[in-house]
Amino acid sequence: PAPGWAIDADVVVVGSGVAGLTTALRCAAAGLATVVVTKARLDDGSTRWAQGGIAAALGEGDTPQQHLADTLVAGAGLCDETAVGTLVTEGPDAVRRLIETGALFDRTESGDIALTREGGHHRRRIAHAGGDATGAEISRALVEAVRSAALHTVENALVLDLLTDAEGRTAGVTLHVMGEGQHDGVGAVRAPAVVLATGGMGQVFSATTNPSVSTGDGVALALRAGAEVSDLEFVQFHPTVLFLGADSEGQQPLVSEAVRGEGAHLVDASGTRFMLGQHELAELAPRDIVAKAITRRMHEHGTEHMYLDARHFGAEMWEHRFPTILAACRAHGIDPVTEPIPVAPAAHYASGGIRTDLAGRTTVPGLYACGEVACTGVHGANRLASNSLLEGLVFAERIAADIVRDRPGRTDAVEPAGGGTDPLLVPESRAAIQRIMTKGAGVIRSAASLATAADALEALHRTAADDADAAEPKVAVPGVDAWEATNLLLVSRVLVAAAREREETRGCHWREDRPDRDDENWRRHLVVRIAQDRR
Ligand code: SIN
Repeated sequence: PAPGWAIDADVVVVGSGVAGLTTALRCAAAGLATVVVTKARLDDGSTRWAQGGIAAALGEGDTPQQHLADTLVAGAGLCDETAVGTLVTEGPDAVRRLIETGALFDRTESGDIALTREGGHHRRRIAHAGGDATGAEISRALVEAVRSAALHTVENALVLDLLTDAEGRTAGVTLHVMGEGQHDGVGAVRAPAVVLATGGMGQVFSATTNPSVSTGDGVALALRAGAEVSDLEFVQFHPTVLFLGADSEGQQPLVSEAVRGEGAHLVDASGTRFMLGQHELAELAPRDIVAKAITRRMHEHGTEHMYLDARHFGAEMWEHRFPTILAACRAHGIDPVTEPIPVAPAAHYASGGIRTDLAGRTTVPGLYACGEVACTGVHGANRLASNSLLEGLVFAERIAADIVRDRPGRTDAVEPAGGGTDPLLVPESRAAIQRIMTKGAGVIRSAASLATAADALEALHRTAADDADAAEPKVAVPGVDAWEATNLLLVSRVLVAAAREREETRGCHWREDRPDRDDENWRRHLVVRIAQDRR
């Protein structure tokens, strides 16, 4: 759709989690005219929901080298070691700067940053806030800083497509804004640098820890704009999500790995600790290993969940250390002080995303990606717990530095890149996509399940395309729900295609028909780019 209004800027940041707001603050501090656009309110993304914390070698005796080693093991052979080196080396100072921005982390009695453990970490290196409300505190601090900084924010703004100039350089984005007075309807922010920090795509599955806004909008935009996307098959399933029933849909309450980090046990219905003997770290094995072990045990026992037993923490520790999780469990009628918590894996994190270099640059000039939407190479086939907030922080600073150094000049936008190539879906398609993906491309996959999913997704696409071409189309009305469903379908199709192609089991990609890791053929990335002559 043609933009009805426009704002001019030096840089537009799309998204308001740790990655987006850190980038925006740094750009604005360097004097760039900076606009932040975000789909809901400033604090409505995934960052706010992060519990466990932020990993960095901050503790005595810990080193970036040890953090690097744990990250590489979790990443199952597909991490980019240089990117990981950057993350772990620059991480501790980036956390200190976040503290200077105003984030209040939990402290020990002697005033040091309190550190916990999570899966895959051989050391206590996870800084946390408010016990288990780390993301909420980071979000509070960054939103407060943004509100008093010299930058422009537009809320309730769904990004649609990239604008480019005649040379194919980034020239801004189009947006659909609802209820923001002067910026209502479809408009544009024209800027020579666009930073996508739109978060993940957990909503492609029925049950996920992600909020409802995580619909893959950034990856979909990047695909339409011809940027390279990589590793989409590596969807991380968090092992311990509060089990609310097999039919429970939408955002599910997380039970942080930090609960296991502080000594909780995974048990089956008979009380047996089934992680013992499976991995040297038992319950603290990397998350893909724990999620697989829980799923296997569920299948063996014909049950829909396992249990996390932390009764031995006692009421005081639960209230002080894990107040958010305690409240969520109690709200659902479970008291972790007196009973084990029913848990099952659910979709949690996209380890892949838009391919970037170490300055966050995508393959489209002027387009950057940061945080969960990006694939910087630090996560490989399976992200190490609590590396995501850190990635957002570290790469946000690198992106801002790159834009400030470059100071690209403004040019005239010619058209939305790839806009309008996908038929618009009716909003009801969202639930259908989620069911197809959960069944065919969930925690356990096979050639057959993925083929069924691919066919069903293609049928949805065809129906929408046929309808759009019909003499009297009953096509979806353009609007946020329809565009979200359209984005979900596009990223699902690419994800399933990648999962079908990768005929092995590695990290969080589990193919029951190809149960082994195949380093000879598959120690490589699957990169997708939609050719621009498709228009
Ligand atoms: C958790 O608290 O378990 C989530 C941490 C993460 O996803 O990194």
